[in-house]
Amino acid sequence: HEGTLVIDSDFQLAQVSDRLFGAFVEHLGRCVYTGIYEPEHQLADEDGFRTDVMDMVRELGVTTIRYPGGNFVSGYRWKDGVGPRQNRPCRLDLAWHSTETNQFGLHEMARWVDRLGGNELMEAVNLGTQGVQEALDLLEYCNIPSGTALSDWRRQNGAEDPFGIRMWCLGNEMDGPWQLGHRNAEDYARTVSMTAAAMRRLDPDIELVACGSSSHGMPTFGNWERSVLRATYEQVDYLSSHAYYHPIDGDMASFLASGVDMGAFIDDVSAIIDATQAELKSDHQIGISFDEWNVWYQDSEASQNPEGIRNWPVAPRLLEDIYNLADAVVFGDLLITLIQHADRVRSASLAQLVNVIAPIMTEPGGPVWRQTTFYPFSVTARLAKGGTVLQTHQECNSYETALYGQVSELNSVTVSRLDGSLVVFVVNRSQTSSYNFSIRLPGGFTCSQVQVSTLHDDNIYAQNTLNDQSRIQLYVNNNVQICDGGSAVSVQLPPVSWTVIHMS
Ligand code: AHR
Repeated sequence: HEGTLVIDSDFQLAQVSDRLFGAFVEHLGRCVYTGIYEPEHQLADEDGFRTDVMDMVRELGVTTIRYPGGNFVSGYRWKDGVGPRQNRPCRLDLAWHSTETNQFGLHEMARWVDRLGGNELMEAVNLGTQGVQEALDLLEYCNIPSGTALSDWRRQNGAEDPFGIRMWCLGNEMDGPWQLGHRNAEDYARTVSMTAAAMRRLDPDIELVACGSSSHGMPTFGNWERSVLRATYEQVDYLSSHAYYHPIDGDMASFLASGVDMGAFIDDVSAIIDATQAELKSDHQIGISFDEWNVWYQDSEASQNPEGIRNWPVAPRLLEDIYNLADAVVFGDLLITLIQHADRVRSASLAQLVNVIAPIMTEPGGPVWRQTTFYPFSVTARLAKGGTVLQTHQECNSYETALYGQVSELNSVTVSRLDGSLVVFVVNRSQTSSYNFSIRLPGGFTCSQVQVSTLHDDNIYAQNTLNDQSRIQLYVNNNVQICDGGSAVSVQLPPVSWTVIHMS
């Protein structure tokens, strides 16, 4: 098939916020314990952080780290996780039917983020089983320099300087009946309003994220956003959205088009934000924080919680999905979709970072390795960060899906980088057709160099595994030509593939 893309550098959409490349660390399964933190590991540093994992997280290029949950946060008592380790209590984690040892807490997380270098911590408060006072205590503990009971407690616990956390999530997925403390939109909005007002009195510089819907398909979607925004519009800075995708009953055609749903979700939430802003005659801008997104096989064995009154394991293997090539292509498509909406999505977190539906896997006492999804993320983060999204015109065939009707076979986004080069990220969703993809470059831009990398395999179910860690990797795609004296480039895109084209 033939596909075309026309780029005009005058049509700029938005700058890509660094915060688009955030990730999520939850106390869930082995994300923290034997993931980022394993004091017994031979590569652990003096704080018990696995240095091999830290190196790979740096290579991945993540920015913001959202912590500590997720469903976990709605039952979490943050005070359990500070102070001398020997005094920290073991607690039941009701979200994941596990035991939380609290050997890793706020200080460890802040230190780990610091050690990564240049990253930002985004903290979630428990609005499930706790409320305004605990949120205030946590904020005081984190952000007040000294001279109060809680800030001095922090200093006593080893952190002389405040953590200075700016972004705060007001609870997690409070629209979901599975959430501890779940409530209806009106009750949640009241909680947000009280919590936000109190937190801002303490620190006016914080940025607050209210919970939106935990998926586009929630029965309350739309009404939830409208009710929460109407009641709290001036008090919050972001509304969150969450989305996870997996093939349903083997419907690969729809699964490969998951980006279509994510794009529609973002458009719908944006419309509700705009309508509320107009209705309230407000100048206040609210962004979307897409703070959980990924491929997740939610119905699989790996995602079933432990059960039984005597069975509360510590750091069990939970949600340890192993991703295949098709998953990585969908994943790359979701990233493309987020960047296409960079004018509205100002923050996003890949859920999650290590072991739990993650691009990075570890073995206790053993190696760290990259899943298929590692590659689209690391390359996109490296090349798109700080760039400007350009509006383009794309033409290609479409195909029929059971879930989303007719969808484009190709999906792409173009980013203009500060160094003057252009990057196109593109997926081919077709399961049968290769594409000859012709890019018409902006006037005045003469391409003399082009580098193309593709993620593809003839077997779309091929995976990286512990025993075969490099089965799927990016390869240099040599099926590329610079044409018309540097004003056009054409690239071959194999079926079910993700490709990055970097032109300078
Ligand atoms: O990321 C796994 C879980 O998915 C999170 O804890 C929750 O917020 C969402 O439902």
